[in-house]
Amino acid sequence: MRKNVIMGNWKMHFTVEETDKFLNKLIPKVKDAKTEVVVCVPFTSLALASNTLSGSNIKLGAQNVHFEEQGAFTGEISPNMLKSVGVSHVLIGHSERRIYFGESDETVNKKIHTCLKHGFVPVLCVGESLKEKEDGDMENILTNQIKNAFLNISSEDASKVVIAYEPIWAIGTGKTATSIDADNTISFIRKVVSSIYNKEISENMIMLYGGSVKPNTIKEQMSMENIDGALVGGASIVVEDFERIVNF
Ligand code: PGA
Repeated sequence: MRKNVIMGNWKMHFTVEETDKFLNKLIPKVKDAKTEVVVCVPFTSLALASNTLSGSNIKLGAQNVHFEEQGAFTGEISPNMLKSVGVSHVLIGHSERRIYFGESDETVNKKIHTCLKHGFVPVLCVGESLKEKEDGDMENILTNQIKNAFLNISSEDASKVVIAYEPIWAIGTGKTATSIDADNTISFIRKVVSSIYNKEISENMIMLYGGSVKPNTIKEQMSMENIDGALVGGASIVVEDFERIVNF
């Protein structure tokens, strides 16, 4: 049985003070959640969030990590730095990182290796652009993203990875994929994972949908066979919305 996971991706929102205020409101509202709850906060908020969340059922995620252990990498954050503040999950290859910051399939793969070595749950983000979808390239794009991401990852390690399918055209646009389309695409992603590893790994892998997930879309999305949860951007920084999504 796969577990359900609702993850918030705050992106570049909230100062340390705002983080504290937000989390103190959120903690009591989701304390009886039936799903795993993770919030991916900005680097500057991690240490505070780790303290505020201690003793709660909310796990702490980071939005990125560098693949090297340490060194002359100005502006980057290492896996040990994340470990020292209690991070458990790390978003890898979010489309905004791929589009605006030159994240490639190669760096995504290196970062997955790094996460697994350090005991983090890598949340691999994949998804096609509108043009790729319209050109009928979606399956090719997803297949390549997934095959490259899992390069030289053992099957034991692969089973620890979470995949978030986030069609780029649905992120922050209010245009969510229909639940049936999202389910079909995630079913396709399971086939790709099965072709690299095997059916068991593919069927046990936690797979999320992301892209304009809102309180009024979550219930149907969660009822789909292949969708185990959501990666939530905009609605994760509004306490009432995120609470409703978690407690769908
Ligand atoms: P959105 O973002 O919910 O605002 O569309 C999702 C994401 O980018 O993870």
